[in-house]
Amino acid sequence: MTSLETRPLVTPARRGRSSAALPSSPPFRHDEFDIAIVGLGYVGLPTALAYHHAGARVLGLEISPQRIAGIRSEAVDLLPSDHARLTEALRDPDFAIVDDPTMLRRAAAVIVCVPTPVDHHLVPDLAMLSAACADVVANAVPGQILMLTSTSYVGCTEDLLVTPLRERGLIPGESISVAFSPERIDPGNDSFEHEFVPRVVGGATPSCELRASAVLSRYTARVHRVESLAAAEMTKLLENTFRAVNIALANEVADICRELGVPVTEVIDAAATKPYGFMPFLPGPGVGGHCIPCDPHYLLWQLKERRVAAPMITQAMTEIAARPARVVDRVSQVLSDAGLGVRGARVLVVGVAYKPDVADLRESPALEIIQGLERRGATVGFLDPLCPQARMADGRIVEAVLDPLAFDPQLVILHTRHHGLDLSWIGEEHLVLDASYRELAVPRRVTL
Ligand SMILES: NC(=O)c1ccc[n+]([C@@H]2O[C@H](COP(=O)([O-])OP(=O)(O)OC[C@H]3O[C@@H](n4cnc5c(N)ncnc54)[C@H](O)[C@@H]3O)[C@@H](O)[C@H]2O)c1
Repeated sequence: MTSLETRPLVTPARRGRSSAALPSSPPFRHDEFDIAIVGLGYVGLPTALAYHHAGARVLGLEISPQRIAGIRSEAVDLLPSDHARLTEALRDPDFAIVDDPTMLRRAAAVIVCVPTPVDHHLVPDLAMLSAACADVVANAVPGQILMLTSTSYVGCTEDLLVTPLRERGLIPGESISVAFSPERIDPGNDSFEHEFVPRVVGGATPSCELRASAVLSRYTARVHRVESLAAAEMTKLLENTFRAVNIALANEVADICRELGVPVTEVIDAAATKPYGFMPFLPGPGVGGHCIPCDPHYLLWQLKERRVAAPMITQAMTEIAARPARVVDRVSQVLSDAGLGVRGARVLVVGVAYKPDVADLRESPALEIIQGLERRGATVGFLDPLCPQARMADGRIVEAVLDPLAFDPQLVILHTRHHGLDLSWIGEEHLVLDASYRELAVPRRVTL
């Protein structure tokens, strides 16, 4: 592989920049970079930028040429504050992007943030994480701090880092440090600055935990230490399983409220006035992204091996997976109430990204809804200013509708409401199925 690193001429002065090195006991042999980030995606790139902003010398390792080109041309999906950081970083010789894993030898600490998806059978797909960890292990040097941040099963850091490192003669807690720290970033949401979201960390040994905690403290305000790798891994699985179960409950309550003729959002808002013992979750058309639809399956998968049942989690994940089909059924019902059939109906899905203000289509319920309606004979288009095109499960690339009035929909599904999304074109003639459950004053609105 070729190094894609470029060294621009300008090194701007940067706020918060300091020459302090990362913890240096035992001494680093290779410390050209304070930190290397493996995988510059939705998690890795903002993390790399946060470290750079805090004054660290950052190496980003990324295997996708398209992603590297996107980063270099600044055509990536980031919060505005991170866009400003990227512009700054790309001008700095202390921010390098490479596709050569041997460069990892030059970093004092390595953080792995590559995808951990599930396959079509909802089985964890560990191929990318295994390959990334194999690169990290092959290039590990004594003194380095290696940290996994991708969500995975309990025991993963032991299996993919600790054991292979030992086989190479690198002993965690002695010649090298190994830790797990789950990532908590929320792309598209600027209410919680990356730096102020506490990080949980667990080490292979107490000294690993301490050293990893110092690495995280370089950019984050608060680090919460747990006693083991397994406790840190399980913390992330709990966080996202908690969300999955509560979203499944919110969806069920939404269906109950509709049956009883009670406005569900009013009920949730009212319950949320209780200052303890209640946390609001909103219903919706399903869940997407790389966390909630996937992470609990890592837990269920490993429990299967032990023949341990987790009926509540299993039921929640089943309900969540069935939600897009529920939307398709509801479309059919709403059209029928209006004297129309699904076959031949023109349906426009507004917002196909899985959540507001990101261009991320991974696991988006919209894709399943579109295909489900097409299977029933509807003509389906979508409108999304952040996603000009979408790849369907069958591989088709579908272009977004540019003019909703020209598309002339008989039914509009509000799926994801990006901020600033123009819905002023919706008029009396448009029947609207609001799957977002966000308030909207349009003449003919029904909820899911
Ligand atoms: N996206 C989120 O909201 C979010 C939030 C918290 C945690 N996570 C977790 O973080 C992890 C990463 O998720 P993401 O959303 O950033 O994924 P992503 O797909 O956006 O980015 C991952 C990047 O890693 C690159 N990559 C894959 N294998 C590589 C390798 N061997 N070497 C170098 N680069 C490699 C890919 O090309 C891609 O650009 C996952 O485990 C996910 O569950 C994601």
